[in-house]
Amino acid sequence: MNANEQLATAFEDVIAKFNNSPGMRRFRDGNITKAHYAALLREVYFYARENPQLQAGATLYFQGQQREMVKDFLRHATSEIGHDQLALNDMEALGFDTTGIKEGRPLPSTMALTAFPYYQITGKNAVGYLGYLYFLEFMPVRSGAEYIAGLTKLQVPFEATTFLQDHSVIDVGHTKAMTKYADTITTCQRDIDDVIYAMRVTGELYSTFVERTFQSVDAEGMAGEQYGVDQPESSSLAPQRASKTPTAAPQESVTADVDEVLAEEAVVAA
Ligand SMILES: [Fe+2]
Ligand SMILES: [Fe+2]
Repeated sequence: MNANEQLATAFEDVIAKFNNSPGMRRFRDGNITKAHYAALLREVYFYARENPQLQAGATLYFQGQQREMVKDFLRHATSEIGHDQLALNDMEALGFDTTGIKEGRPLPSTMALTAFPYYQITGKNAVGYLGYLYFLEFMPVRSGAEYIAGLTKLQVPFEATTFLQDHSVIDVGHTKAMTKYADTITTCQRDIDDVIYAMRVTGELYSTFVERTFQSVDAEGMAGEQYGVDQPESSSLAPQRASKTPTAAPQESVTADVDEVLAEEAVVAA
């Protein structure tokens, strides 16, 4: 079997297990409320916002024939920008307030889902990242229509399902791109095995992500709120943190040093 055939076979097993996991059984049986769906959208926001940068980051490790996929990978990564906002838009269309979510913290299970591909890329075999991507692209294309139909039964308005709609219908092109990626980026059986392993890990982590999000709503009313507020995200995040550490150099001096060096370089260049 070639790489694509092996991945397709592995996916059948992974998606069957995923759709039968406790959280997904609840979701598919309609054994949730609008609050559970809203909480899921909150958590989706947290992993979706990392995906463009994660995918672009994986290309750092592409060599030889793998470089042929850099352009497609970066284009694909760029097209994922803004999908996090779809999740927040859906929450609002559902009647839930999204104020403060961007400064909040994800559930630990959401953090694990995001941390895994980052570790796979930087600490293991970056080719394995394809397994994470494969699951995220094929899962909604395979089962998204069924998930949307279930939400409709819960009286969720159609306009509150744009994240799922986008990924089950409009995003189909991304699954086609996977064929090219699998052919070009995997260079040996070991690579294919790593991709399949990462696909299985992602399926399990995503199952837990759904289950824990629902459980958190059962216990708290809204997922994640018990984890408090994160530092606001901005380009000045690092200096803000440094300035709170008593021994850290003042923020202005760090910036001033960099500015000085850049100014000197500009003079030399001129
Ligand atoms: Fe997406
Ligand atoms: Fe996608």
